Amino acid sequence: MKSDIQQETERLHGKLSHVGWTRDDCAVIAPTTLEINELKREQNAIILAHSYQTPDIMYGVGDFIGDSYGLSVIATEHPADKIVFCSVYFMGETAKLLNPEKEVLVPSHAGCSLADSITGAQVRELREKHPDAGIVCYVNTYAEVKAECDACCTSANAVEVVEAMPQDKVIFLPDKLMAENLAKICSKEIITWDGTCIVHEGFNIDSIRDIRSRFPGVKILAHPECAPGLIAEVDFAGSTEGMLKYVKQSPDHTFMMVTECGLTDRIKSEVEDKEIVGTCILCPYMKQIYLDDVLKALKNPSPEQIVEIEPDVAARARASLDRMFELEREGKAILERAGREKLPWTATGTG
Ligand code: 13P
Ligand code: SF4
Repeated sequence: MKSDIQQETERLHGKLSHVGWTRDDCAVIAPTTLEINELKREQNAIILAHSYQTPDIMYGVGDFIGDSYGLSVIATEHPADKIVFCSVYFMGETAKLLNPEKEVLVPSHAGCSLADSITGAQVRELREKHPDAGIVCYVNTYAEVKAECDACCTSANAVEVVEAMPQDKVIFLPDKLMAENLAKICSKEIITWDGTCIVHEGFNIDSIRDIRSRFPGVKILAHPECAPGLIAEVDFAGSTEGMLKYVKQSPDHTFMMVTECGLTDRIKSEVEDKEIVGTCILCPYMKQIYLDDVLKALKNPSPEQIVEIEPDVAARARASLDRMFELEREGKAILERAGREKLPWTATGTG
């Protein structure tokens, strides 16, 4: 009879072989994933893994994999007592804001070039400078920034939220490139901040044109954190989950994913018979999450692994998230009434 470790090795190999893991590789992590999964059951804990995590995290211990929007919805709806958020710190903070009564843990206090580009004090200065503008922050911000904004949004609902803002002028922060993409499709005047995602600003149009010429019929998908010039040339732009859905539903065979490499790993693991061409870029922040840190968070978390938010900041940041859900609904209705319900990020895209 096979031992628990052997069985776990086989389970892991079934999931990770698609992305090049050998049985020996899986045997090395099997004792750790086994222990983590046992602790989750004992503690009524769930592990949320963003699509940019490594495959051992997503498929070895993750209970739910998704984009920042989908994972925040799961965080609110799931009856678990404890959430371990395998992603960058601001996503753990978002889960805590939505679930103050739950224990929320992060394996590593990982940054993000967007979230690190702006402080709450800077948002207050922007408000003074533009008193007639509403302020929408992208979810890639810390609680102290969300607390100073009128509403939050994610890549999955940014268009709806901005369109539903009551003001004609909207400060969209901190992602300058996403703000420029919104300015092209929304009816609002958009004021930008100078933050960028170090992954998505790294792609250039030449590499896309090169892939199109070498692979006729290729479908090119990008995240709306990429530059507008690039977005104008792709077939679809959307959140990480939106891109995965597009590939799963598409009758096409060959794709280029203009985003972080974790999503390519997800496609290789979850979608059969599709070919991914071109390069991807690793996010050094997302890749700071290791299985040993997940284990420590469940066994004996360090103070940095426990997400705590000062109550006054938490109440105001939570209001900005609640407003996001309201505006998302209103924005959908506004776009529908205008016959623009499928408003795409791209000129040629469908979502
Ligand atoms: P999603 O909201 O699409 O998950 O993206 C988060 C992110 O960090 C993209 O760089
Ligand atoms: Fe931040 Fe970009 Fe990394 Fe996403 S991919 S966490 S936006 S640096």
